[in-house]
Amino acid sequence: MRDDFPLFFHEATQSWVLSRYEDVARAFKAPVFTTDNYDWQLEPVHGKTILQMSGREHAVRRALVAPAFRGSMLQETFQPVIERNARELIEAFRQDGEADLVAQFATRFPVNVIVDMLGLDRADHDRFHTWYTAIIDFLGNLSQDPGVAERGVRTRQEFADYMLPIIRNRRQNLGADLLSTLCAAEIDGTSMSDEDIKAFCSLLLAAGGETTDKAIAGILHNLLRHPDQLKAVREDRSLIARAFAETLRFTPPVQMIMRQPAEDVEIAGGTIPAGATVTCLIGAAGRDDRRYSDPDSFNIFRDDLETTTAFSAAADHLAFALGRHFCVGALLAKAEVETGVGLLLDTFPDMTLAADAAPTEQGVFTRGLDTLRVRFTASERAVA
Ligand code: HEM
Repeated sequence: MRDDFPLFFHEATQSWVLSRYEDVARAFKAPVFTTDNYDWQLEPVHGKTILQMSGREHAVRRALVAPAFRGSMLQETFQPVIERNARELIEAFRQDGEADLVAQFATRFPVNVIVDMLGLDRADHDRFHTWYTAIIDFLGNLSQDPGVAERGVRTRQEFADYMLPIIRNRRQNLGADLLSTLCAAEIDGTSMSDEDIKAFCSLLLAAGGETTDKAIAGILHNLLRHPDQLKAVREDRSLIARAFAETLRFTPPVQMIMRQPAEDVEIAGGTIPAGATVTCLIGAAGRDDRRYSDPDSFNIFRDDLETTTAFSAAADHLAFALGRHFCVGALLAKAEVETGVGLLLDTFPDMTLAADAAPTEQGVFTRGLDTLRVRFTASERAVA
């Protein structure tokens, strides 16, 4: 497709598919490619969120939430939450000699972090997990399965019934958590209504849970399958960021996102009509040999991927998109991966893939491992 049909109309999804790096990058950066597609792709399950906003409305709303995910708020308030959550999960299996890092670590860690950041009840973990899975399934419901659609809409109601009373109560009892920050945030006289906050929390659970969960399993698997690179990372933990950037190129958790051009656009040798749906294949673009040398090899030392900018809108991979909607949580995801992977490597110096492990990747819209079974010498010392 990349070589012969760089612009391709896909009947089943009624969308125009882009797969070359250059074209996907342009679709993310050029404002003519709007995110109005989220009106039908996500609003029915989240309510209205910043993903589908544009212009000043988007800029103001994004500015309300962005400070919580960078700088001192991330370092001082949330880094200890990240460390505590990683430690608690590893502590639970460190003496077992084996673990499934998907079930016992990756699917729990990022969502626990968000739940703690928001100051919600961790005992409700299973409910959060069910909700965000239903939301992501709705987003990726390319075949329009009515059961998936119905479950998504039901989730919206259940989440609203759960969250709105908590938000009302938190407004009266502000604390140091992220939910209180959202309740109090104000820019140019704009603040967030209860409905806005509920929608944003729903987005956070889905955008920050499902994606980082797949990224953590992905980086661990990629390293375990390349022992030389794993050894290098063990010897120099600053290489985790590099291995994460390469994982985002090689096995991106979000394989595709959509856009909707406001006007007819010429791209990839053809014209996409205004109002059509465009599917941007992040996974395919990351393997484009016009952009990356030897793209099907996982190589944390490649010289055509920049690590220093990989977690900012100046990134040269596409896994967080680019431009105005560049992932708000990229630095949080980096902090989670650096902390989680670092602690796992510290605790288990001889961790290897279980001999009979056969992890397979699942999913089309978001994609990641179903299991990641590893073996290690049981650790006698509590996780530091
Ligand atoms: C490896 C992990 C992650 C990946 C691969 C990822 C991927 C993405 C992508 C592709 C977008 C752009 C969507 C679009 O333009 O249509 C995005 C936006 C966003 N992400 Fe992430 N994300 C990750 C982690 C997180 C985390 C940890 C959070 C927060 C808890 C988060 C919150 C958001 C939000 C709020 C947006 C919307 C930004 C806007 O519209 O301005 N993400 N993410």
